[in-house]
Amino acid sequence: CGIVGYIGKRDVAPLLLEGLQRLEYRGYDSAGIVITSKASAGKAAPGLKMVKAKGRVRDLEARVPKRFAGTTGIAHTRWATHGAPSDVNAHPHLDPENKVAVVHNGIVDNASELRAKLEADGVVFASETDTEVLTHLIARSQAEKLEEKVREALKVVEGTYGIAVMHADHNDRIVVARNGSPVVLGIGEKEMFVASDVAALVAHTRQVVTLNDGEMATLKADDFRTYTTSGTRTTATPETVEWEAASYDMGGHDTYMHKEISEQPDAVDRVLRGRIDDRFSTVHLGGLNLDAREARGIRRVKILGCGTSYHAGMIGAGLVESLARIPADAEPASEFRYRNPVVDPDTLYIAVSQSGETYDVLAAVQELKRKGARVLGVVNVVGSAIARETDGGVYVHAGPEVCVVSTKCFTNTVVAFALLALHLGRIRDLSVADGKRIIDGLRRLPAQISEILELEDEIKKLADLYADAKSMMFIGRVRGYPVALEASLKLKEISYIHAEAYPASELKHGPLALIEPALPTVAIVPDDELLEKNRAALEEVKARSGRILAVAHQEQEKADHTIVVPKNEDELDPILMGIPLQLLAYHTALSLGRDIDKPRNLAKSVTVE
Ligand code: G6P
Repeated sequence: CGIVGYIGKRDVAPLLLEGLQRLEYRGYDSAGIVITSKASAGKAAPGLKMVKAKGRVRDLEARVPKRFAGTTGIAHTRWATHGAPSDVNAHPHLDPENKVAVVHNGIVDNASELRAKLEADGVVFASETDTEVLTHLIARSQAEKLEEKVREALKVVEGTYGIAVMHADHNDRIVVARNGSPVVLGIGEKEMFVASDVAALVAHTRQVVTLNDGEMATLKADDFRTYTTSGTRTTATPETVEWEAASYDMGGHDTYMHKEISEQPDAVDRVLRGRIDDRFSTVHLGGLNLDAREARGIRRVKILGCGTSYHAGMIGAGLVESLARIPADAEPASEFRYRNPVVDPDTLYIAVSQSGETYDVLAAVQELKRKGARVLGVVNVVGSAIARETDGGVYVHAGPEVCVVSTKCFTNTVVAFALLALHLGRIRDLSVADGKRIIDGLRRLPAQISEILELEDEIKKLADLYADAKSMMFIGRVRGYPVALEASLKLKEISYIHAEAYPASELKHGPLALIEPALPTVAIVPDDELLEKNRAALEEVKARSGRILAVAHQEQEKADHTIVVPKNEDELDPILMGIPLQLLAYHTALSLGRDIDKPRNLAKSVTVE
């Protein structure tokens, strides 16, 4: 979910609606806004004015009346957890007297218990949400100050939250609090902003303060202060955000996804920039926080992530094994944290996340840290929760990614892993010659990605050919398997076509039963030591008259169609082979008329369990 708030002199509604648009990728099933203005001399304090709507921010915008003036407000775009998407379940939530308004990101774990207690006291609930509990608790507090009321309410609440609160009788301020869900303050000139991520702020200010868990803040038009939930003042020095407002625009493309796919040559250039050391055929990773002696002591690498980041981690594990010769594997962070993992002191743990705030990944990191493990991050968003919780890491410098499904960040994450693997390898047994070979390969990537992007028209035609499929099979072997997994995920997410990914070697152990003309297979067939094995898999499919689309370094005789991509070093081939399949998913979804940037039921940052 996304939160945005403003207090200052400007007309607040247009500002908040624009902020919500910027945050819409965090959730888009319903949205709402509440505003007020300061009492003018001699007049009674104006009340809170609220509008909510099921659907997108544009549906909310259509409902906001022409005259909807105010200078303070909070707004929200939702990704439903408790309670279906609807007008009433949309945030903000008000108390029955219309005094208190709350927007909330996260989950109140003990909501049903608190709700039962409040109902026994005669409170009537308007919605099914966990958030409304907070509204009533704040409204019923006898404390004098708004900050106190919020603190009292938070004391009995268990769970995660990023909240912003307004009160009709305390309308010179917005009170915010964070525990597990991001809250960022934007510091302006005689105006203050709050949002759940900088995307909503950078158009107005690049001076930001990121709250820590357990921290609260009071925003007034010309002042802000931060303190802990127990009331102790904390120091907060604003930092300058690196990303510019323009990098959040669509830049002439029809969708963010298309823009982000097209940006990959530049993005890869950025992750490499300033890191290559030709003298020693290695790379420098300034934020790693791991000296050579420690690096030599690592006996295992365990990589944790969710969704696309998990797939990037799988390719990363392959790179670490092949270049650094350290046993490595990747696991979904969401699974890892629930299976009481054995935490081994000689294992290096690596958390992967585009947003740096995926709750499952963050929780895994916290569990590991609690058990004394060393955890690094491979993260895109600078200063995000996971970046801050880890002991060090590698930023992937993909720039802001807005489309819900990840493309350029996936590619950059894999390149970041290649850098890390090269670094570890050169400290251990990777030769100077091999180091140089990989560095040369990395340097060729941006131009080779551009070459692949030029195949777009050809790929679009293929997408039109295959878009009628009800289901698709993706196969790859060893390095090609995570590429197949990611390609099948991308297709599912945006086209809603069912897709499965299997190691090519496993076909004969079951999935071959599915193969028939109506089920096309996409095969990853690199020119490497496994080429013949992969060709054999194509024969197995062809013998069952299945249609085959191959991604390969040369035309494949058994395939109905081949997308030929440039060859790099064997280890780096997976980076390139995934890219045409991003375009394939994109054009398939486009020809099916899907809402590509905002696929149904998904959100980009899942900050809840
Ligand atoms: C969500 C998104 C996925 C994404 C995953 C991990 O499920 O829908 O596209 O891969 O979160 O996100 P992260 O920000 O941690 O990489």
